[in-house]
Amino acid sequence: MKKPYQKPSIIKLRVGLLRDKKSGLLRMVRREIDGVPVKDLVRKFGSPLFVFSEKRLRDQFRYLRRLFESHYPRVEFSWSYKTNYLDAICRIFHQEGASAEVVSDFEYHKARRLGVPGENIIFNGPYKPREILKQAVLEGARINVDSMDEILDLEEIARETGQKIRIGLRINMDTGIYPRWDRFGFNLESGEVLSVARRIAAGDRLEVMGLHCHQGTFILDPEAYARAAEKLLRLARKLEEEFGWNIEYLDLGGGFPSRSRPKGLYLPPEVGIPPLSEYAERIARSLLLGTMARDYPLLVLEIGRALVDEAGFLITTVRSTKRLADGRRAHILDAGVNLLFTAFWYHFRIEIERELPGPPEPCTLYGPLCMNIDVVEENAWLPPLPRGTHLILSPVGAYNLTQWMQFITYRPRVVLIGESGQVEVIREAETLEDVVRRERLPEHLR
Ligand SMILES: Cc1ncc(COP(=O)(O)O)c(C=O)c1O
Repeated sequence: MKKPYQKPSIIKLRVGLLRDKKSGLLRMVRREIDGVPVKDLVRKFGSPLFVFSEKRLRDQFRYLRRLFESHYPRVEFSWSYKTNYLDAICRIFHQEGASAEVVSDFEYHKARRLGVPGENIIFNGPYKPREILKQAVLEGARINVDSMDEILDLEEIARETGQKIRIGLRINMDTGIYPRWDRFGFNLESGEVLSVARRIAAGDRLEVMGLHCHQGTFILDPEAYARAAEKLLRLARKLEEEFGWNIEYLDLGGGFPSRSRPKGLYLPPEVGIPPLSEYAERIARSLLLGTMARDYPLLVLEIGRALVDEAGFLITTVRSTKRLADGRRAHILDAGVNLLFTAFWYHFRIEIERELPGPPEPCTLYGPLCMNIDVVEENAWLPPLPRGTHLILSPVGAYNLTQWMQFITYRPRVVLIGESGQVEVIREAETLEDVVRRERLPEHLR
């Protein structure tokens, strides 16, 4: 009889760098994730399959919290829902102490449904429908305002509810990152922020209590955060002096890199991507110097990718193999860009579930879609892969499960490997019923 699976006391990740005997090249083998054999995962839950590691999620959160708190005394982590809004993932980060960072009515509803109180929600985003904006005001959410039109909406809500509303301002500025994400919030260098602040003060319905800046994503220059922190701090002091407001928080948004390898970065992530400790040091140094070690504003971080990416894996299976016209080998997988939106920008780590004989050669990995752009990896270096071989792609935890498409195929199961090794489904595979539920066939077409 087969022995029930038992998690080893020390997590043994049997990820091997194996040397091919003939070619001498290195190849990656991963037989298990958090001690659970890949074969067993596929047998029980099917392929393709997204797998998340609860241990990695919690470890990364605790690591980042310790890292930032060891440099700066007042830090809040706010979980960026858009990065991955599966209930189980959000719940884990909320249990660890993160508030919720949301950018739409849908995300706001999702956070509230999970039991996050309004005051633990940060509401960003360039379009906040009037109804949800009012709900957010009434529930005490922190609203970071993106545009003058939103200020007008909020002034109206303030009139309706008879209260003064405390808001944050989204700021865009030159931090040395190009192209600049200047579509969010108000520009600092042009003086727009100050004229908006004067307008807010004159309206006397709103009061600014925070400043926010999200520079972009996968930012490889820690110094850019130092510049952002410095400029926000200076702006905060100016607003306090000129308008008598008390700026309680500086929110530096997200954008911290994971260990993904962006296309165009030709160095391995360990070499080409600065460690997160450098980001923490630079931010803290700017804030501590700027505050002269008194009246520390709360530092808010909306880290998404760097928290969740490496906790996510996708197991996919080779369904067929062919030669392209130029002789290159191609494999058709059961997962493509429909599930892996980030394949357009990043190279995944590709591991094979078992050791395979044969010399590696360059090959292309395609997904199952009828589109030429359905390329998971253009140029992988792999040995011959028999039909049915499982590949493990990572890191895939960020942005894939929010941007995946229901296109041509059903979306697969997502499982979570718990800290004691139990595996649980956190999102069921889609069925025909799920996909057609919202369709209506007019009478005359029946
Ligand atoms: C306002 C805001 N905060 C946080 C994030 C999370 O960014 P990242 O996943 O790059 O850390 C985003 C992502 O676009 C964002 O728009």
